[in-house]
Amino acid sequence: MALSRRKFLNGLLGIFSLGGMAAVMSPVIQYLTPVKKQETAVSSVVAAKANELTPNTGKLFRFGSKPGILIMTPDGEYRAFSAICTHLGCTVQYSSEEQQIWCACHNGHYDLNGNVVSGPPPRPLEAYACFAKGSEIFVQRQKS
Ligand code: FES
Repeated sequence: MALSRRKFLNGLLGIFSLGGMAAVMSPVIQYLTPVKKQETAVSSVVAAKANELTPNTGKLFRFGSKPGILIMTPDGEYRAFSAICTHLGCTVQYSSEEQQIWCACHNGHYDLNGNVVSGPPPRPLEAYACFAKGSEIFVQRQKS
């Protein structure tokens, strides 16, 4: 009888121990597990005011949660691309001196059509459509 009481108490202690560990580990596991945010697909954004860029300049803008780059070419034409380098994902920038899009991470160069000129990027930048509406420049994802 004493042995069965001991087994019962050991079993009870084991259950309490597991419950205590679960209570401690649950918040730790929740903290370590990344929250999956469902990003709503943004199809167009205002990238700049109409008078914000001058020829041969560019600016970064947010396209949803990702960076985009809007360029006014030396001829005064707007072009827009994803600003995420196709090599390892650094954010690209516009180089007025070279009249190219440049990735500083590994010296990747893209032309004003987003095509790779030199460096390690394997693919062109994703191109966006852009248009002026009122006093704003809109950038829109192109339908594939
Ligand atoms: S991440 Fe852009 S060149 Fe490597």
